[in-house]
Parts: sequence; C-alpha cells; structure tokens
Amino acid sequence: MILKLSPDYDYLGHARLAAEHGVSALTAINTVKGLRLDPETGEPLLKNGFGGLSGRAIKPIGLRVVKELRDAGVTLPIIATGGIRTFDDCREYFWAGADAVSLGSASWFASYPGYALSPLHAARIRGLLRRIEGYQPPARPAR
Ligand SMILES: Cc1cc2nc3c(=O)[nH]c(=O)nc-3n(C[C@H](O)[C@H](O)[C@H](O)COP(=O)(O)O)c2cc1C
Repeated sequence: MILKLSPDYDYLGHARLAAEHGVSALTAINTVKGLRLDPETGEPLLKNGFGGLSGRAIKPIGLRVVKELRDAGVTLPIIATGGIRTFDDCREYFWAGADAVSLGSASWFASYPGYALSPLHAARIRGLLRRIEGYQPPARPAR
C-alpha cells in the first residue's frame, strides 16, 4: 500500500502514521489546493470552488515536502511527483530524498495544437524513463 501525501495537510504526521501502520511507501505530493475567481463577478472559476494546482509551479513545494519528510526522519520509500518534466527535475528530487519519480502533468497536458505532436512527446518521455532507469541516485545518509 502506498499513501499519497497532500502538501496542504499534516504530511509529516500522516507519514509517521503510515510508517506505524505498515504502509509500504509514500507518494509526495498530490496537487496543491488553489482558487481562481472571475475578476468581474468574484465567482469561483471552478464549480467546486477550489481546485488542484499541478505542474511546474508546484515543483519547489514538492521538493520542500520530500526534504522535510527526510529531515523529520521518515525512512519509508518516497515516490516523488510534482512538476517533474526533465532529467534534472528527477535529479533534484533524488537529492531531496526521493527513491523514485513519477510524471503527472508532463505526460498528460499539452496545448491543444500540441496534441498533434504527441508521438514526439511520448518519445521524449520514453527517453527520460530510460535515462532515469539507468541513473544511480545519490546515497542517503543512514538514519
Ligand atoms: C487532471 C489531473 C487528475 C489527477 N487525478 C488524480 C487522482 O485521481 N488521484 C491522485 O492521487 N492524484 C491525481 N492527480 C494528482 C497527480 O497524480 C500528481 O500528484 C500531481 O498532479 C502533481 O504532479 P505533476 O505536477 O507531475 O502533475 C491528478 C492531477 C491532475 C492534473
């Protein structure tokens, strides 16, 4: 079982509980809770009011959460997700303490005309996955 952590709630507490209750690994992070309002009316742009922010903007938040989990002594494996698009994004997350990486928005979203280029996009992602599979992450100090 893998527990996915939200950056908006008590992720350190949840990670500790996960370790105590036999969870195998953590995923960090889920989308960041956000809000947009129509500037004319003040009404939320999304029907549910709040929405989830993903992609490049949340990478520093994801890195912060992974680092804080490690600094707090969490030893469960961490699958990092949040704004990952390139090999260097992956390396940053490994330095922060991740054991694996995962792509969300980078594999789903393109500008509408960009979908015509999806075979190229898919080839780029396959290349990134191959590069990461061959990558030896930095050793973490034992706790
Ligand atoms: C359209 C969309 C749908 C998502 N659906 C789920 C979901 O069903 N379950 C879940 O745990 N996370 C879901 N997520 C969150 C992603 O798995 C991921 O944690 C988040 O988008 C951050 O990674 P990214 O910046 O690479 O997209 C969704 C994200 C997006 C953008």
